[in-house]
Amino acid sequence: MPPVRKMLVTNALPYANGSLHLGHLVGYIQADTWVRFQKMRGNQCIYICGSDSHGTPIMIQAEKLGITPDELVEKMRSEHQKDFADFLVEFDNYYTTHSKENEEMVATIFKKHLEKGNISKKVIRQFYDPAKKIFLPDRFIKGECPRCGSKDQYGDSCEVCGATYQPTELKNPYSILSGVRPVEKESEHYFFNLKNYEKLLREWTHEDHLQEQVANKLDEWFEEGLQEWDISRDAPYFGFKIPGENDKYFYCWLDAPIGYMASFKNYCARTKVDFAEYWQEKNSTELYHFIGKDIIYFHALFWPALLNGAGFRTPTAVFANGFLTVDGQKMSKSRGTFIKARTYLNHLKPEYLRYYFSTKLSSRIEDLDINFDDFAQRVNSDLVGKFVNIASRCASFINKNFQGKLSNHLADKNLFTEFAATGDAIAEKYDKLEFSHAIRLIMALADRANQYIDEKKPWSLMKDPARVSEVQDICTMGINLFRLLMIYLKPVLPDTAKQVEQFLNIPALTWNDKNEPLLNHTIQEFQPLAQRLEKKQIDEMKMAATQDIEKSSEPETKHEQPKKEFIKIDDFTKIDLRVAKIIHAEHVEGADKLLRLELDLGGDKRQVFAGIKSSYQPEQLIGKLTVVVANLEPRKMRFGMSEGMVLAASAEGSDIFLISPDSGAQPGMKVK
Ligand code: 2FM
Ligand code: ZN
Repeated sequence: MPPVRKMLVTNALPYANGSLHLGHLVGYIQADTWVRFQKMRGNQCIYICGSDSHGTPIMIQAEKLGITPDELVEKMRSEHQKDFADFLVEFDNYYTTHSKENEEMVATIFKKHLEKGNISKKVIRQFYDPAKKIFLPDRFIKGECPRCGSKDQYGDSCEVCGATYQPTELKNPYSILSGVRPVEKESEHYFFNLKNYEKLLREWTHEDHLQEQVANKLDEWFEEGLQEWDISRDAPYFGFKIPGENDKYFYCWLDAPIGYMASFKNYCARTKVDFAEYWQEKNSTELYHFIGKDIIYFHALFWPALLNGAGFRTPTAVFANGFLTVDGQKMSKSRGTFIKARTYLNHLKPEYLRYYFSTKLSSRIEDLDINFDDFAQRVNSDLVGKFVNIASRCASFINKNFQGKLSNHLADKNLFTEFAATGDAIAEKYDKLEFSHAIRLIMALADRANQYIDEKKPWSLMKDPARVSEVQDICTMGINLFRLLMIYLKPVLPDTAKQVEQFLNIPALTWNDKNEPLLNHTIQEFQPLAQRLEKKQIDEMKMAATQDIEKSSEPETKHEQPKKEFIKIDDFTKIDLRVAKIIHAEHVEGADKLLRLELDLGGDKRQVFAGIKSSYQPEQLIGKLTVVVANLEPRKMRFGMSEGMVLAASAEGSDIFLISPDSGAQPGMKVK
């Protein structure tokens, strides 16, 4: 027996500001399957996760919903926990980065690095939203790409031409929170000097802790030169205050990975497991992080450096997974291929997705495509047609003709031994995260088992009274082969395994159970284990996903978008929009916001009061063309009649921009 391994496994902590979607689930299902496998092997494996609760997006999202960030975090945490549980992702602890344990741990680690001189302060210039009074993360600024000129590109990269840049390089930048042009503002920040750990990191990169592709990527980063890491943020921010500061907070990416330790600490308090045993330097336990490929920098560079400098162990391995595509396309709301975890669960069984992912996952970082025709075909042909079929073919004979009793010997010992021996190869594939290879081996065995039953034809032997006892032996053999397949599939199909354990009337299956057959034993009545997946179910799920997107309150771009409340075309045509020339403009005595405008609508003269004083001097406006609602009922105002309304654009706190038609338009023209 190999010695029991003590393992601590984490999944990336999901942000507590949005629902989980199928893309998230790739990494969680992968890690959960691996953990279940390790537990079945008898290893002591502790599986940790929690909500990533801090940061500007969470603060803004809470504000938008009119709740506190704490309330949002709690709401999302319970939603995520429910989604994970229903996908059979079974964490030993699900906590939050917004916890006492984490605050203490962050402070300890920060202090150690301060003492070591790894942290310095520096004044930097950053974009600031003067209307919202907040420093803007890169993703909260949009503008025109400095390379290709595409409009509405994020502050860090262009989705059209792929350029990456600083937000300050954007042309005509605007804040997605208020729409106003951000200003540059200075502030003092704390920086972690990653370069102090370059030697350690260079060595660590090539000691088998990382996938080959990741190690190569790190080598590129070393060549480009390691950058200092900005670990602080200015108020307002939802996070932990930096000790000794009033209005500065730790950047959420500092406290997020430390959240793994805090979640584990919380687990230890509950279970009396020794925290230090897992985290102290040079210990014999193993530490694994499963992450998405987009957060490698944080986990493979900053994290080992943070840990090592603070006197903790570094990870045994970091496993990065690729992204999910749907029918070959990036998952996207606009293409209708965005599927929330809950939407899937409302229509389809979690194990189908778990199985499908495992037929595709390897230890390499590859994007994984879900093609729903292929998905249905895999589920129906492998799980229903091959695997479950073995049990349903054999069980009814045993149940009906032998009072549920299995024979006391194996009809084909060699075949059983072959199945048990293949278990070692399958285990090796699981352990190395080569799930698709493991599944191929398992399905080849399933074919073999079906072939055995086909050859032995128990249904025709049943007709010959002299050979009935052979049927019991054949079906006992079939059930035993099925049982081994269930052991091998249990990490992927834990619910089915439970049902099978009940049907076979046995305790929870472990990996080593593969070596002993189940003989001279009474089984229960067989209940169908899986149903064919019908196209209709998938279509309904896809339809629901599309409807989700339509009513979604979380737009893909995280800024506020107008609610979709439609008007009919008839409503629109009721509005008489006309080009108007401003022939006179003046201040209105006693009015803070208003200017009095005289308009010419092609011979028709009007007086209009417009709230545009903050943005225009009257003389700037004279001679300008604009657009006016010409059939608005005249309103009597304190200063006189207003006979229409001019159109202007603005956002909360921003300047006001009068709408002007292109040159060539003439006063009185209808706008349509
Ligand atoms: O990228 C993300 O979704 C982050 N919330 C992951 C954090 S992982 C860890 F460091 F906490
Ligand atoms: Zn571009």
